[in-house]
Amino acid sequence: MKLKYFSHSSFQITTNAGRVILIDPFLDGNPTSPVKSDEINADFIVLTHGHGDHLGDSFKIAKKKDAMFICVNELANYCISKGFKAHNMHIGGAYNFEFGRVKFTIAHHGSLTPDNQYTGEASGVLLSIDGKILYHTGDTGLFYDMKLIGEMNKVDYMLLPIGDNFTMGIDDAVKAVELTNPGLAIPMHYNTFPVIEADPNEFKEKVEKIGKACRIMAFGEEIEL
Ligand code: NI
Ligand code: MN
Repeated sequence: MKLKYFSHSSFQITTNAGRVILIDPFLDGNPTSPVKSDEINADFIVLTHGHGDHLGDSFKIAKKKDAMFICVNELANYCISKGFKAHNMHIGGAYNFEFGRVKFTIAHHGSLTPDNQYTGEASGVLLSIDGKILYHTGDTGLFYDMKLIGEMNKVDYMLLPIGDNFTMGIDDAVKAVELTNPGLAIPMHYNTFPVIEADPNEFKEKVEKIGKACRIMAFGEEIEL
């Protein structure tokens, strides 16, 4: 499986079978993304919540290949109301898709869409694909249940925000890594805008200081998992 980071909270997973799954694709309005929406396709789009910097260019991309949205019920219904396919789920629930298993977790955050629709609870997501477990926390503050998530899932890769202001900042994110105990922490949701400027190297040093591994992905970088 391959993981590509577009910057902000936007990732692309390409499974060993060639399925493409996007998470929170925010590209065209994202000053740090080296890739724009007309350059990519998706089979599935996983959304953590309805904020504009996560819903992003989802509809433009979904239109191209009739991609299916996977998200919590209210946000899924919002996508359906815009004419798209969606699989409605909710926090705590898991489902086996053809590419792997998806389970939604809590996230402490909001979920208002750019056109002012409230689309349920914000979420994080656990993805079990090709024998690996990825935990994309979505936008969230620190919460102690991350310990439970880590105890019940051997998280290989934890993708978590460090930009502060709207989400965890660096020190809370380090605590989140300690609680969840992933194989590798990957910082996200930083340096997109001045208000969320953060130094990923400071995060990496602090994560390593607690004996955990961290990888800073360059914007546009793709790695083999
Ligand atoms: Ni948000
Ligand atoms: Mn956000």
